[in-house]
Amino acid sequence: MEREISIQNVSVSAGKKDILQKVNLDIYKHAVTAVIGMSGCGKTTLLRTLNRMHGPALHLSSGQILLGGCNIFGMPIGDVRKQIGLIQQQPTVFPFSVRKNMTYALNYHGITAKEEQEERLEEALRQVGLYEEVKNRLSEGAAALSGGQQQRLCIARALTLRPKVLLLDEPCSALDIKNTLIVERTLKKLKENCTIVIVTHNLSQAKRIADFAVYMEGGTVVETKESGQLFSQPADKRTREYMSYIQ
Ligand SMILES: Nc1ncnc2c1ncn2[C@@H]1O[C@H](COP(=O)(O)OP(=O)(O)OP(=O)(O)O)[C@@H](O)[C@H]1O
Ligand SMILES: [Mg+2]
Repeated sequence: MEREISIQNVSVSAGKKDILQKVNLDIYKHAVTAVIGMSGCGKTTLLRTLNRMHGPALHLSSGQILLGGCNIFGMPIGDVRKQIGLIQQQPTVFPFSVRKNMTYALNYHGITAKEEQEERLEEALRQVGLYEEVKNRLSEGAAALSGGQQQRLCIARALTLRPKVLLLDEPCSALDIKNTLIVERTLKKLKENCTIVIVTHNLSQAKRIADFAVYMEGGTVVETKESGQLFSQPADKRTREYMSYIQ
């Protein structure tokens, strides 16, 4: 399989504290990669670093992240965010209409032609299976949508930029099983168009949707494999221990 992203020797620290330590990881194209591990092991920090959202408190102390052969730390930040979309741990719709939620990133990135915006809006809403549900409610406040619809709107919002990579941090933690399965179906379909990295505490979810799985502990990647293999034959004692707590 072809690599989309190559994370090479990446360390991130807050003051003297190391949050990520020499992380090496390849992310494959058109696959779903699930990142799992205990709370505080660095999953969110890894996603935020991939999107250059690690913020002023954290700094990259070593390493590089290659996207299509270019180091993202040498690219204009707008280019990185256009190609790598991040849906944060507690995504919230903006307190505007559905349409304004969908055109927000486009306006920010200077994609302002009305026809182009309409085309991308419809395309992204269709990708998450939301178009039919909201096509007559585009001018209504997004906050009036159901939780599951809001979550899919947040994903669609990121898709308007047609990113190569979509990063999702615990996208289903606030959803019931019905909406969780809808989002999972959406992600499985989306991988035809983009590469997906998902952080989840839900191992059943990782088993259902992931092609590759990554187990992290203490800011390091302990083990990464094809998902089925990681769950059935974890090689590292730490991975086995984690699985035994959860199952
Ligand atoms: N800006 C920051 N300044 C200092 N420490 C931070 C900062 N951001 C994260 N950390 C620390 O880095 C570690 C990893 O945090 P992170 O949020 O990446 O964990 P996580 O695996 O996503 O956890 P969870 O499953 O609870 O979401 C934690 O110990 C956290 O306290
Ligand atoms: Mg987190």
